[in-house]
Amino acid sequence: MITQVLVLNGPNLGRLGVREPEIYGSASFEDLAELCRATGRKLGLSVDVRQTDDEAELISWVHEAADARLPVVLNPAAFTHYSYALRDALAMRTAPLVEVHISNPATRESFRHTSVVAAVADGTVAGFGLVSYQLALQAIAELAAERAAEPAPDDTAAP
Ligand code: DQA
Repeated sequence: MITQVLVLNGPNLGRLGVREPEIYGSASFEDLAELCRATGRKLGLSVDVRQTDDEAELISWVHEAADARLPVVLNPAAFTHYSYALRDALAMRTAPLVEVHISNPATRESFRHTSVVAAVADGTVAGFGLVSYQLALQAIAELAAERAAEPAPDDTAAP
């Protein structure tokens, strides 16, 4: 069974390649999207990669994932550090969520040391450049397989 996954990206990530390349590298957003789709194919995942600079649009995609129980890899970009609205939307979903960062926010400015998203994610991958996304997709594949192997609530119900 192919698992569908959303890879969601927040503000300024559409500028990859031209945005502070010494921090975020020289690959473009389209390079990142293709890497995610190719990684997904190897892992048996169907990967839909999106980017927005708009908090409301990002939240609407999280609602979509929650309603359809889709696993999510999320780079919330600067929203990581202050968006309680995004955090509350993420708290509604039940499928796996992996927070991802290209850089390692813990080694950067102090405002980047707080993630309001981390506590509602299954885990975080940060600091490995675009490889962070590949590791996050691998984690999603493992989590999805584990959850698929768990008995459905009905299996344990009394006859
Ligand atoms: C980022 C780190 C954030 O602090 C920053 O605001 C970003 C990108 C990363 O991928 O390293 O936009 O999420």
